[in-house]
Amino acid sequence: MQKPVYVLNGPSLNLLGQREPHIYGTTTLSDIENMVTARARVHGLSVQFRQTNHEGHMIDWVIEAREKACGIIINGAAWTHSSIALMDALKAAELPVIEVHLSNPYAREEFRHLSYVAKVASGVICGLGAHGYVLAVDALAMKLNITGGSSA
Ligand code: DQA
Repeated sequence: MQKPVYVLNGPSLNLLGQREPHIYGTTTLSDIENMVTARARVHGLSVQFRQTNHEGHMIDWVIEAREKACGIIINGAAWTHSSIALMDALKAAELPVIEVHLSNPYAREEFRHLSYVAKVASGVICGLGAHGYVLAVDALAMKLNITGGSSA
């Protein structure tokens, strides 16, 4: 049986829907979990959907994914731009990694233009709001060569 996709969310993403909605939209993280789970099902995939505000937890989950997941979708939030530890863990996981952001960091402040996650990701989706997570599921299914599901 296929291992689950780990969908990992970094700091302050638990506040989605309330946090700067003009930038991040009004969709909550729980709405996104439902969207991701439904899309993964189309591809015959299951999902472990998690959020943390603690960098060590995130790194433990990435290391756990090495054994327990078929791939990782990650919105590292601010750690994207700061965490060499997260980058190293993602590399060590030796799994396909899709980086996702609700906003487009390249159209924002300069400090958001560097992504340590992108350096080890198979692909990056940004600027498309919550729908980016759905696209990330499709991208991961493509990377995993999953042909059983419909792309509709
Ligand atoms: C974000 C973009 C990051 O720059 C920011 O620190 C976040 C959210 C996004 O999804 O657009 O917390 O990852």
